[in-house]
Amino acid sequence: MAVDIVILAAGKGTRMRSAMPKVLHTLAGKPLLGHVIDTARSLPDSSLCVVSGHGATAVQQRFPEPDLQWVEQTEQLGTGHAVMQALPCLREDAITLVLYGDVPLISAATLEALISHVNDHTLALLTVTLDNPVGYGRILRDDAGNVLGIVEEKDATTLQKMITEVNTGVMAVPAGRMAQWLARIGNSNAQGEYYLTDLIAIARDAGITIHTHQPATAQETEGVNSRQQLNELERYYQRQYALELMASGVTLADAERFDCRGMLVSGQDTAIDINCIFEGQVTLGSNVQIGPNCVISDATIGDGVVIKANSVIEGPVSIAAGAQIGPFARLRPGTELGENARIGNFVETKKSRIGQGSKINHLSYIGDATIGANVNVGAGTITCNYDGVNKFSTTLKDGAFIGSNTSLVAPVTVGTNATVGAGSTITGNVADGELGVARSKQKNIQGWQRPVKTSKE
Ligand code: UD1
Ligand code: CA
Repeated sequence: MAVDIVILAAGKGTRMRSAMPKVLHTLAGKPLLGHVIDTARSLPDSSLCVVSGHGATAVQQRFPEPDLQWVEQTEQLGTGHAVMQALPCLREDAITLVLYGDVPLISAATLEALISHVNDHTLALLTVTLDNPVGYGRILRDDAGNVLGIVEEKDATTLQKMITEVNTGVMAVPAGRMAQWLARIGNSNAQGEYYLTDLIAIARDAGITIHTHQPATAQETEGVNSRQQLNELERYYQRQYALELMASGVTLADAERFDCRGMLVSGQDTAIDINCIFEGQVTLGSNVQIGPNCVISDATIGDGVVIKANSVIEGPVSIAAGAQIGPFARLRPGTELGENARIGNFVETKKSRIGQGSKINHLSYIGDATIGANVNVGAGTITCNYDGVNKFSTTLKDGAFIGSNTSLVAPVTVGTNATVGAGSTITGNVADGELGVARSKQKNIQGWQRPVKTSKE
């Protein structure tokens, strides 16, 4: 059966104390709702409908993808009322799967297992058993263990409050009679809300069997209501990511000081020192060494690359095998480093190809440049690639040697094995093998007397 997924995301998130809608707060660099949407999307034969309310415009703008249907719940009258708003998106011959926009770590495997139990006569409810069930809806069962319904904390008797099996909120329902059942939900309860949880007893009265399923880990169904809970889930997520990386053959100096806000794939025997952050898509080869405090986004990094402390890589960047970077280097978008190239401290590169074995070891800015193999760029060399309006490119051919503190005023080409004298401002091309020097001649003044301090009368 097809699955129509309803994601409830209308709540305010008062306890976040934030001007931003709760579901836009990020976990591992991605909005909470983004995690739920991505997981929902990964389910086969699914369609997605998001119920927004608080900050609806901001939330919808953040997710412009055309496969999302949006309905607005202008007043938050309860979870049952929220699902009612989604009725136009729900096909009668499909399964309706209800998810929460603030429960980011629900897994596709759990949802698929849940859905597999649903048929015309069976509804599936995701429950967990908690040591401390306070605040949650409790699962009511008869003596034979059949689910009778759910009672909310605020409506529960003292005896019911002792039940430790709770409602996660996630349920998968055969949609044939959804509209009918939702219409029967009232709001005469402690909170004056239309509880989606009432659907369970209603469906059961209609002869539906309630099947329960539990997730592999409790964190999968934990919601975010405060920044503390957000942080707890963030740390859980990062710890899991670190464990998986280590299991795949990567050494982490400290699993508690590792953050991946995207996807990191690595070969074996790579070592990552403390406080590194990975963003977007990062692929590391084998035997890569990453020093402390590096921030690396959207990069492909080859075998044996060494990235020293405090380097920042803002991709898309590609680094071939054996290259060495840092400490304190900044590689910006469009940097392509060849094998065994070296980028040293306080060097910034942007939109530049730097060939095999070339070195830019100290204090340089290289932008819009094509640098061949075995080029040596001296300390303090700058490509002057911008005239205030347009960008121009610099070409340094194989074996070129650029003396320290050179300004390369683009567009300009320095030929194969050509040399540029230190301190030059190069405005014209230097041909293959030639020396280009462009600086004022040194003048020494003999008998020069240093000024002496004039004494005040
Ligand atoms: C709900 C369940 C409870 C369950 C708990 C799990 C009901 C009545 N209760 O309680 O059994 O144990 O979740 O966390 O369903 N939302 C809307 N519109 C509304 C109300 C809520 O979109 O009108 C959204 C919220 O943004 C949130 C989710 O639904 O993402 C859950 O709402 P919340 O108010 O947190 O429900 P609980 O009282 O925690
Ligand atoms: Ca909640």
